[in-house]
Amino acid sequence: MYEEVAEGRGRGEPALRLAGLSGSLRCASFNSALLREAAMLAPPHAHFVLYGDLAELPHYNEDLRGEADPAPVADMRAFFAAADAVVIACPEYNRGMPGVLKNALDWLSRPPDPPLYGKCVLLIGTATGGMGGALAQYQVRQVLSAMGAIVQPGREVALPYAADHFTPELRLRQESDRNFLREAIERFCALCHTVRPLVSL
Ligand SMILES: Cc1cc2nc3c(=O)[nH]c(=O)nc-3n(C[C@H](O)[C@H](O)[C@H](O)COP(=O)(O)O)c2cc1C
Repeated sequence: MYEEVAEGRGRGEPALRLAGLSGSLRCASFNSALLREAAMLAPPHAHFVLYGDLAELPHYNEDLRGEADPAPVADMRAFFAAADAVVIACPEYNRGMPGVLKNALDWLSRPPDPPLYGKCVLLIGTATGGMGGALAQYQVRQVLSAMGAIVQPGREVALPYAADHFTPELRLRQESDRNFLREAIERFCALCHTVRPLVSL
């Protein structure tokens, strides 16, 4: 299952297919809400699709990798393989990433053709604590680096005190937050356009 959020309409830039992954299983997740906001703020040529089956993945187990991966794993790998770039919204659990997200990344990391290898990834996140989940993002950054992904450098998109920043309908309250997120997505799309011709060499 996936959700199409924004249709690329093109303004001269080549279309970019961005795959979104939220590391939270909660229906009312602030991180999933932040990812949806990011999708809505993406430039017109960016076509955002959100992965929605994190809960279906089995725990990583080498024994489950026979002739073929388990169906939810194969579907997830195909979903991210079809993307030009990836945006991950990462919750913070005990100053680290949630186990479900690490599990997904471990499945995505395995050969052949690991789908995030050589792909640009933007990390975003929010947490109810005062550091906005920045520490968890550094853990994800380290894992993505081992997977051969190209993680957007620079300022973290880590929104602290999540409950104060979202409405009951899980929309961002403040224009300043939307502007910050929009700028981060635009910078990321620019990075993708720069890097894509290089990694396809
Ligand atoms: C097991 C657990 C550990 C947590 N640890 C942290 C933490 O280290 N830092 C923090 O800011 N919030 C922490 N929180 C609170 C989360 O930021 C909060 O539950 C948040 O809403 C989770 O993201 P989500 O809304 O996308 O599910 C923790 C929550 C849980 C359940």
